[in-house]
Amino acid sequence: MALPPAFLDELRARTPLQGLIGRKTRLARNGRQWKGCCPFHNEKTPSFYVYDDHFHCFGCGAHGDAITFLMRAEGASFPEAVERLASEAGMEVPKPTPQAAARERRARDLYGVLAAAEAAYRRRLFLPEGRAALDYLRRRGLSEETIARFGLGWSGEGRGALAAELKPEGIEPAQLVAAGLMKPRDPDRPEAGLSDMFFGRVMFPIRDRRGRTISFGGRILGDGQPKYVNGPETELFHKRRGLYGLDAAREGAFRGAPVLVVEGYMDVIALHQAGFTGAVAPLGTALTPEQMELIWQLTPEPLLCFDGDAAGARAAARAAEIALPLLSPERSLKLATLTGGEDPDTLIRKGGPKAFQPVLDGAKPLSVALYDLLTEGKPAGTPEQRAAMRGRLEEAARRIPDKVLSGEYRRALLDRFFEANRRPMSGPGARRAPWPGRGERPIGIPGLPRPPIDQPAIRLERARNILAILLRHPILLPEVEEALVALDLPAGDCQALRAVMLAWFADAEALDSGSLTGHLARCGMGNAVTWVTRANGLCAAAQPEAQPKEALDGWWHFFGLLQGESELVQDLADAQRLLAETNDPAAQQRLIRLTEALAALRSGEVESLPDEGPSRGSEASRADTIG
Ligand code: UTP
Ligand code: MN
Repeated sequence: MALPPAFLDELRARTPLQGLIGRKTRLARNGRQWKGCCPFHNEKTPSFYVYDDHFHCFGCGAHGDAITFLMRAEGASFPEAVERLASEAGMEVPKPTPQAAARERRARDLYGVLAAAEAAYRRRLFLPEGRAALDYLRRRGLSEETIARFGLGWSGEGRGALAAELKPEGIEPAQLVAAGLMKPRDPDRPEAGLSDMFFGRVMFPIRDRRGRTISFGGRILGDGQPKYVNGPETELFHKRRGLYGLDAAREGAFRGAPVLVVEGYMDVIALHQAGFTGAVAPLGTALTPEQMELIWQLTPEPLLCFDGDAAGARAAARAAEIALPLLSPERSLKLATLTGGEDPDTLIRKGGPKAFQPVLDGAKPLSVALYDLLTEGKPAGTPEQRAAMRGRLEEAARRIPDKVLSGEYRRALLDRFFEANRRPMSGPGARRAPWPGRGERPIGIPGLPRPPIDQPAIRLERARNILAILLRHPILLPEVEEALVALDLPAGDCQALRAVMLAWFADAEALDSGSLTGHLARCGMGNAVTWVTRANGLCAAAQPEAQPKEALDGWWHFFGLLQGESELVQDLADAQRLLAETNDPAAQQRLIRLTEALAALRSGEVESLPDEGPSRGSEASRADTIG
């Protein structure tokens, strides 16, 4: 027996084609598609394209979807290919039972029922009974073409009118119930009969990615509650797994329109009419992970656009929340929040398409927007509040599974944090050195240089030295705190020591080694302290008798080694820009430090085990840099 088309659709929708094909042939992004050398014929220049739901080779004509790809590429049979894809997608292949076959027939019929209902609603909009609804839509600025494009209609006044109208087409009331268009008047008393799900409403067909109507939303004319009613869950309609406008947005995205996720049906329609044809909206619920997956099939960096009200702010925070564990270097998003209680529809209505363009242009990468969402309205005046806020930022970054990306987020968030929470330096008359402002830099998008991966043992030794210097010379903490927080330290003792040390620093009255060590011991970290300060391999800067200058040089030396070259180059560029903009002496000091660290790194010390203290290279500039 054939498998249910709905199951196969779902399977295709849940299989990222680029990932599947990317295992066989190298793919590179080419606009909205992916491109590579065809795995089915021999070629040197790529003519094989992968779209969100199919592949096509312009060389040999190979063409198909995920299932056909597996069949051709691996000689799998149809059932084998389906079985493999289903297990990867976490789906179960339905067993061929007579019940399943009957369900399938019903589902096939349901599309027909919904199409007939849509036609009836659309017809009514242009009859005298639909006049008020048509006027309403026109008053809201919709053209005849838009009304037709989205299949808008009028429900009629109910009382079984739809059932009566569809009866001559052979559609039974029970089918209308299955399609979500009628419901029992009283679930406990079947004899009470059925009532219409929609009456007195403008009808918005909800379609699947292929454009088939699977349910409806209905809006009341003018004010009244509930403003929108959506069809119930049915065999075809799963509101958490579809998007309003998806079929049109797929086409829009294919033609290069930016993919926009907005809150309301009317927003989607107004945006399409204004030429922003990549707009979609969730179906009356908050955005779900399944919906994010659908959106990422259209573009690697969609723009989520939220209304400028309290509900919009909550929705944005929630969307960021669900996106974090799904992010990868290939999948990110941008956030835009409208202001002044506007939504995209009202904005366009007042100012035309050009009124919406600034929203697109002003969208913030998630890494930037996330900071605002996590810190907005939360006080950070006391050490406890600052520690709590930092905890929230670090926690958010930890939820990103990709390690490199997670590290990038951590740094970006904490950089912003320190910029916003700068405190005066505790040393005499000194001003705290600002960490260059990288908060606005989008991060984590493919192509960023990555820090070189070095030997874990060497990294651990470096981390041990950097912590030992601070244990012996906590007086350095005010200068190095920001850099320390952003540093990618080995997990375990090193990170734990850092955390306790920083918490201690936030409250410490006096920055002396004895009280820090005592505090760590009381926190149960005595063993970690012993490990960090054991003599073997410890640099001169970590000796108690080292001068503060020497200790500081040593600290930055190891910082440079741990940080990696590409990171340092980026930091340096930021510091240069900051110095040019502000002419701030602290920025100048930072610049010198980073230059030294980079020089040390490039002079090959990256391979030497750190056992002899600060590099000679730093000697020359020491006099200018330590005040
Ligand atoms: P909005 O009230 O922002 O919708 O709700 P909107 O599209 O801007 O409405 P109007 O027509 O311009 O006034 C956003 C979305 O939330 C769902 C709908 O999907 C709506 O499009 N919603 C809203 C409901 O499901 N039920 C409601 O009662 C209200
Ligand atoms: Mn609106």
